[in-house]
Amino acid sequence: MHIDHIGIAVKDLEAATEIYQKILNRPCDKREIVESEKVETAFFNTGQSKVELLGATTPDSVIAKYIDKKGEGMHHVAFEVEDIYAELDRLRAAGFTVLNEQPKNGADNKLVAFVHPKDNNGVLVELCQEKQE
Ligand code: CO
Repeated sequence: MHIDHIGIAVKDLEAATEIYQKILNRPCDKREIVESEKVETAFFNTGQSKVELLGATTPDSVIAKYIDKKGEGMHHVAFEVEDIYAELDRLRAAGFTVLNEQPKNGADNKLVAFVHPKDNNGVLVELCQEKQE
């Protein structure tokens, strides 16, 4: 298991992408809209892990709601796992609140599922697994 990426909620994806290009001194590696989540993502590869900037595509996007409540900033930490189904079962059995009944299609060719921040010291945890194709 390793940290696959850190998700950061931003108001203005274009502006944030420019800022992170400066911070990381490299171009953005991938832009992708995730229709089901009403977000647009910008990924930066930083060695083994990535930075995922998350901008809302509609006012009722989870990211828009998050920013309304908490402001911009760190949104989630994503851990890459080998078997997301087994990990979800394991965490459910251990009493964690898993927010997705089944893993769903996320950005970056991944299956993803989230664990509620109340069980993780205030941090939303994403599990992700590369889709096999
Ligand atoms: Co993510």
